[in-house]
Amino acid sequence: MMTATDGAIGNLDDVDLGALEFWLDDPEPTLRRLRRERPVVHEPTSGCWIALRHGDVRSALRDTALFSSALGIHRPSPRASAIDDYLAGSLIVSDPPDHTFLRKLVLPGFTPRTVRALEDRVRQLTVDHLDAVEEGRTYDVVHDLAAHVPASIICELLGIPRADQEHVATLIEACGGGFDNRNPVQDEPSRLVFDYLEQLLADRGASEPDDLITTTSRPADDGRRLTPYQVMQFCFLLLIGGTDNTRATISTGMERLGALPEQRDALAADPGLLATATEEMIRYGSVAAITARTAMRDTELSGVPIPAGRMVLLVIASANRDEDVFGPDAGEFRHDRHPNPHVGWGFGAHACVGAPLARLTIRVFFEELLQRFASWDTGELSPMGNFEHYCGLDRLPVTLHRR
Ligand code: HEM
Repeated sequence: MMTATDGAIGNLDDVDLGALEFWLDDPEPTLRRLRRERPVVHEPTSGCWIALRHGDVRSALRDTALFSSALGIHRPSPRASAIDDYLAGSLIVSDPPDHTFLRKLVLPGFTPRTVRALEDRVRQLTVDHLDAVEEGRTYDVVHDLAAHVPASIICELLGIPRADQEHVATLIEACGGGFDNRNPVQDEPSRLVFDYLEQLLADRGASEPDDLITTTSRPADDGRRLTPYQVMQFCFLLLIGGTDNTRATISTGMERLGALPEQRDALAADPGLLATATEEMIRYGSVAAITARTAMRDTELSGVPIPAGRMVLLVIASANRDEDVFGPDAGEFRHDRHPNPHVGWGFGAHACVGAPLARLTIRVFFEELLQRFASWDTGELSPMGNFEHYCGLDRLPVTLHRR
């Protein structure tokens, strides 16, 4: 009989959560044991504390006064890149009251109603893309199938001219490649995206096309508005956060539904189940795997003292597999999981602004995919070599079979 600790590292003192190999080599059995026996780990090399339980991750995300984002949301690393520099002080790396001000200005672009109005466009992009998929040909899900719509829709929302969209999408993908710990850090692509955005804003002059740049540039009720640099930061954040995460979640969903044909067939028979399945893809994939906060005073998590000024890594990917919350089948993908109180979108004040758009993009992708293709064969997946920001798939070969 399998036990809950099968596959876990024997001596927890030997666990190195900072090692890439740990994350590439099925971390879940060891994380499961750590959640039970050592839920908050101190990592001497980085000086960080690492919180693995759902309750701890959620309570740290909820308390923005005690756990600050403004000092950075990534483990300190020699791999820190230009992306971190460009995002310093932006929405995601700020605390109230700055955060409250920034969020209020950007939120109108992402209300459920605004996003619902995008459904036809998202569907059109998806249909065009999937109609071009050839029967029997092998595609890489991550780059060939899942990437196109998330990148296109964000480019369109930002008002990036069609002729430039492929160029911008390629640069954003190159920024993401720099996140992979097996690749050299690449600062050039983020610099080029920032240069591009600067030029885009300059070219617009005083014109106000109906897009997100215009919405976020408008003054708030009190007359305060974002500076041009802050607008560029926000565009950059959307391009980085909005494309990779959605692409990675769609890829995870295709991998799981390829491996679980009964669930795939159930969703094909009743697409109304896809909203619930999308949340499960977010939980199971947990592609925004880790975020971080800094303790603003002495505190504790699960009884473990955390001194003021120290960074705490909040492992969303572990919280979302916590058996105390999701039950003994926490490690399994279940398209009908309900309730599903995952923290895959984050939680509290910084919870993902783009969640309504990502939900729409993922749901529509699978609706259209399942209408066209009865099944697909997946080849050997290769995980992304990154645990500091994202996990997910680097490549997944797939061959689709039409209905
Ligand atoms: C499957 C897709 C996505 C996942 C899993 C995801 C996940 C997350 C998570 C976990 C956070 C919180 C980070 C923290 O608290 O430190 C976050 C924040 C954010 N996300 Fe997403 N995201 C996704 C898609 C998107 C999209 C499509 C957009 C925009 C178009 C977007 C824009 C943002 C922004 C702007 C924030 C910062 C919010 C704030 O700090 O107030 N995300 N996202």
